[in-house]
Amino acid sequence: MRRWAASVLLPVSLSACGGWQSTLDPASPGASNIANLWWIMFWTTGVLSTLVIGGLFYAVYRARRHAKDEEGDRVGGAERGFILVAGAAMPTLVLISFIVLSVRTGASISEPPGEPELTIEVIGHMFWWEVRYPDHDITTANEIHIPVGAPVDVRVTSADVIHSFWVPQLAPGKVDMIPGRTNRIWMMAEEPGRFRGQCTEFCGVQHALMSLLVVAMPEEDFLAWISDRLPGTELDDPLELRGREVFFEAGCQSCHTIQGVSEPEFLGAPGPDLTHLAARSTLGGLTIENTRENLTAWILDPHHFKPGVRMPPSPLSGEDVGALVAYLETLQ
Ligand code: CUA
Repeated sequence: MRRWAASVLLPVSLSACGGWQSTLDPASPGASNIANLWWIMFWTTGVLSTLVIGGLFYAVYRARRHAKDEEGDRVGGAERGFILVAGAAMPTLVLISFIVLSVRTGASISEPPGEPELTIEVIGHMFWWEVRYPDHDITTANEIHIPVGAPVDVRVTSADVIHSFWVPQLAPGKVDMIPGRTNRIWMMAEEPGRFRGQCTEFCGVQHALMSLLVVAMPEEDFLAWISDRLPGTELDDPLELRGREVFFEAGCQSCHTIQGVSEPEFLGAPGPDLTHLAARSTLGGLTIENTRENLTAWILDPHHFKPGVRMPPSPLSGEDVGALVAYLETLQ
C-alpha cells in the first residue's frame, strides 16, 4: 500500500517542479541561489522527517512490546542522551544552519552580478502589466523583451491596487508593486527563452489571469527588436485606413494610446498601449494567443475570455471590426 502511494503520489507532486514558471527550473544566478537553498532545505527536512516518523513508529512498536513486560516507562542513561542529541542539539544545529544559509542567500541575491545595462519600468494595472523602456521611448504591455546575459534593472509600481511582480526563473524573488512608490528588483536570463511571470498579490477578480511573458533573446536580436518598434506605420490599404477611423469612431482611444496616432489629449490613456500590439504574442495578459480570430473575438466581447476585465464589449459591425483588426495588425 505504501509503495503504491509513493509510486503514484511522488511523480504527481514532482510533475509541477518543471516548466516555464518554476522556481526549481532557474535560468538566472539569483533564481539559482534560491533554488539551491530550497533543495538543501528539502533534502535536509525530508531526511529528518523520515527519521522522526520512523522513530515514532519504532517507539509505538517498542511501547506495545514492553507494555506486556510491564517495564515500558523506564528511561535509561542511553535514552536520555539520545533525547538530548536528537531532540535538542540536532534541531538547534539544523535551524541555525538554515538561518545562516538563508541570510547568505538573501545577501547574495540582493545585488545583480554586474552593472545593469537596461532599465525597464513595469506598472501594475487591474489586470495587466504596462511595460516601458525609458531609454528607448517604447511602451508596451504584458510582454518584456530582454537581452541574454545582462542584468536588467526593473522598477515597479502600480496604477491602482497592490500587485506583485514575480518571474521565478529570472528574478531573485518577488517584489510588491505599490501605488505611489517605486520598488526595484533585478532580473537576468542566462539563456534565450520564454519565461512566464505572474501577479502574486491578490488584486481582484482577474488576479489569476494577470500573467506576463519575458522573452530573453541574444543581444543582437534584442537590439533588432528595439529598432523594429517604430510608431506611426504608413498606411495605404483602404481597409487599414478604414480601421484607423474605426479606432477613433468607436471610442477606443479614450482607453488605448497609439503613439503617433492618438490625439494629444488621449496620450497616456488608462488601458494597454496599442502602439506595438501586433508585436505581442498574446492578448489579455497571456490569456489567449494574439491571432486575428482571437483579437476579433476579444474586441467584441473580452469578458468571454477574461470575466471582470475592465474593457467593455464593443458592439461593432462585422465590417468595422474586420477593418479595425486589419489596422491593429499593422501596429508593429
Ligand atoms: Cu495583480 Cu494580482
